Amino acid sequence: MNRPFTSVADLMAEMTLAEKIGQLHQSPNDTHLNAEEIRAGRVGSVICTSSAFAGNEDQERVRARKVNEMQRVAVEESRLGIPLLVARDVIHGHRTVAPIPLGQAASWWPEGVKDAAEVAGLEAYADGIRWVFTPMLDIARDPRWGRVAEGFGEDPYLAGIMASAAVLGYQGDDLAAKGRVAACAKHFAGYGAAEGGRDYNTTEISRNTMRNIYLPPFKAAVDAGVASIMSGFHEIGGVPVSGNRWLLTDVLREEWGFEGVVVSDWGAVAELVPHGMAEDKRDAGAKGLLAGIDVDMAAEAYLDHLEELVGSGVVPLANVDQACRRVLELKAALGLFENPYTEPDLADEVHFSAAAQSAVLDLARKSAVLLRNNGLLPLPRKIKTLGVFGPLHDNGRELLGSWCLDGIESDVVTVLDGIKAEFEIEKLYHSDLPDEASFQARHCDVVIVVVGEHHLRSGENNCITTLDLPAGQTDFLAGVKRMGIPTVAVILAGRPLALPRALNDVDAILYAWQPGTLGGAAVAEILSGTVNPSGKLPVTFPRTVGQVPIYYNHKATGRPTDPYGHGWSRYIDEKDSPLYEFGFGLSYTTFGYSDLQVAPHGDGFYISAQVTNTGAVAGEEIVQLYLRDHAATVTRPVKELKGFARIPLKPGESRPVSFELSRHDLGFYGADEVWVTEPGRFTFWVGPNSREGLSQEILLG
Ligand code: GLC
Repeated sequence: MNRPFTSVADLMAEMTLAEKIGQLHQSPNDTHLNAEEIRAGRVGSVICTSSAFAGNEDQERVRARKVNEMQRVAVEESRLGIPLLVARDVIHGHRTVAPIPLGQAASWWPEGVKDAAEVAGLEAYADGIRWVFTPMLDIARDPRWGRVAEGFGEDPYLAGIMASAAVLGYQGDDLAAKGRVAACAKHFAGYGAAEGGRDYNTTEISRNTMRNIYLPPFKAAVDAGVASIMSGFHEIGGVPVSGNRWLLTDVLREEWGFEGVVVSDWGAVAELVPHGMAEDKRDAGAKGLLAGIDVDMAAEAYLDHLEELVGSGVVPLANVDQACRRVLELKAALGLFENPYTEPDLADEVHFSAAAQSAVLDLARKSAVLLRNNGLLPLPRKIKTLGVFGPLHDNGRELLGSWCLDGIESDVVTVLDGIKAEFEIEKLYHSDLPDEASFQARHCDVVIVVVGEHHLRSGENNCITTLDLPAGQTDFLAGVKRMGIPTVAVILAGRPLALPRALNDVDAILYAWQPGTLGGAAVAEILSGTVNPSGKLPVTFPRTVGQVPIYYNHKATGRPTDPYGHGWSRYIDEKDSPLYEFGFGLSYTTFGYSDLQVAPHGDGFYISAQVTNTGAVAGEEIVQLYLRDHAATVTRPVKELKGFARIPLKPGESRPVSFELSRHDLGFYGADEVWVTEPGRFTFWVGPNSREGLSQEILLG
C-alpha cells in the first residue's frame, strides 16, 4: 500500500507501538528473513549479509532486483508502507575495491579517500544499499589486533581528517541525491584498545586517554555530519559500550549534539548478558535502549521485549519514540519515502567504471610506503631477466583485504599482471615455490619477492601473537637472497609486521598493504618509477611483538628514554626504538627542510618552513607538523601530529609550507574532561616524519 509521506511526525502519529519497535530492529537478510516479517512491520532495516562475520566469509553479492523485491513488500504490502533501510559492510570499496583503510591512511591524502568513498557509495547505491557501515575509526596501538587493518592507524588527528573525508565521500551534501548513502562511524568507542590485541577483549581506558586519543576521530565524523554511529562489542572500565549511557548519551548526544542514529554492532545489545551487565535479553534490551542504542542489529532484543518493557513502565515510551523518530528521519533524509527503489540497470552503468578504477588506482599509488631502497629502485623499464616470486606474486584475493564482500577476484590486477604490463622483459621467471624460486633466481638480473598475509590473517577476530611474516616466508626470502641477486621485497599485509630478520639483506622494501583491485598495477608503476612512492606510515612498526604497544605519541614518563639514544627504561634484549616510525616513508628523490619560522598569529601561531626537492626526480613530500606541550595539568605526549600537507615538488624546486594553529589547537582535554589550553613551553616540529625535522620552542602566555 503505497501512501503519500507527509512528515515523520504525521507518520509516527499513526504508528502502533509494535510498528515503532519494528523500526528499531535490524534483521540480517539471510535465510530466515521473510516477507511476512517485513509485511508485519517488524523490520525497520536490513543488513545484507548471510553471517555475523561478513568480513570473514564469502557473501552473496547484493543486487538491486533482490533489494527492490524486499522493498516492494515493505512499501506496498505493509500497513503503513514504511520503506526499509538496507545496509551493507562496504568497508573499502564495493565492486571496485580500494586499499584497506590502513593503507588509505598511509596516503595522507584525504582527497583520495573522499574520491574512493564516493565511487564506493555510488556502486553500493546502484545495488540498492543506502547505509554503509563505514568508516571504522578505532585508534589502534596494537597490531596483533586484526582490525588494525580496517582503521586509519594510531593517530587521532590523521584518523579524524580521514574520517571527515570518508563521510563527505559517502554522504555528499544531500543524502537524498543519487549515489549518496548514509555513513556509519564505528565502533564507538575505544574498541582498538582490546587487551592482548585480542578482538572483543576488555579495554581499560582512562577518561583522559579516551578524550584525547580514542574519541577525537568520532568527533570529527560527527562534525562532518555522519548520519550514524555504531557501538562496539567491548567494555570500557567495566561498562560495555552498548550499554554505556555516558558514551552513547552524555557524550554523543548531550555534549556533541549528535542527532543521527546509533546502531549496535551485531548482537551487541544481547551480549550485555554474557558481559555480565544484564540478567537476560529482556534486561539487555532495556539497558541498550536506555543507554542510547536506537537500532538493535540482529539480536531481536527490542523486537522480543520492548513492547512489554514499555507496558510495564521499565522503558518510557518516549525513549522508543525518540529512537523511532531518528530512524524515520534518516529514511526521510535519504529520500526513501519518495524513492524507495533502485534503477535495476544502474549497476551495469556505474560498477567498475573508469572513474571507480581511477579512484582506487590513484589511492593505491599514494598508499604504498617505500621503507628501504639502497638505490636498486626504480628498476629500468627494460629488464633482460626478471624473477617475480613469492606466495603472493600472482595472487588476486589477498589484494582485496579482509572486508571485501562485493569485490570480484577476477577483476584484480595481481603484482605479476602489473609487472608484465609495466616492464619489457626478455625472460621472466615466476613461481610461488621457494625451492623453484631459489633455483631460478640465480639466472635473474633482479628479483622481486612478493610476501605478506592471507586476507584473513587480519580483519575481525583474526588476531595473531607474533608479528612475523607468515610461516615459511622468511625462509623463502632468505633462500632467494642467498643467490646474491639484487632483490626487492614487496609486502602485502593488513597490519604492520615486525620484519627485521626476514629483510636484513634485501635491497629494497615496498609496503603496499592490501592495495585493492588495481593494487598490482600501482605496485608495478612504483617499481618502475612511473610513480614516485610518497606514502608514509600511519602506524609505528615495531622491531618485535615484544615492544607492543609501541606508538609515537607516547608519554615522557618520569624517567624519559630517548628511544634512539640513552635513557632510563630500556629492554635489555632489544632496542627501544621502533623498526620504522610513524610518518616514515621514502621517495625516489630527497627533500630538504630549512628556515623554520614560528610567529604569533591571531591568538595562536603561524608556522612555516621551506621544503626543497634536493634530488633528481619529481616527487610529493608529506610535510608533517608536530607539537609538544612540555608541562600541563595532565601529562601530554612527547609529540602530537597537528597538521600535514602533501606537497608536489620538481627537482630543485623549493617552496614554503605553512600551518596556522589557534590557541585552541594547542589544547587538550584536562583531568576534568574539559578542553583547555594552558600557558607554558611548547615545541613545534616541521619534518618528514615523527622522528626528524626542524624544531623551535615557544612560550605561550
Ligand atoms: C561485525 C563487525 C561490524 C560490522 C557488523 C555487520 O561483527 O564488528 O564492523 O559492521 O558486524 O557485519
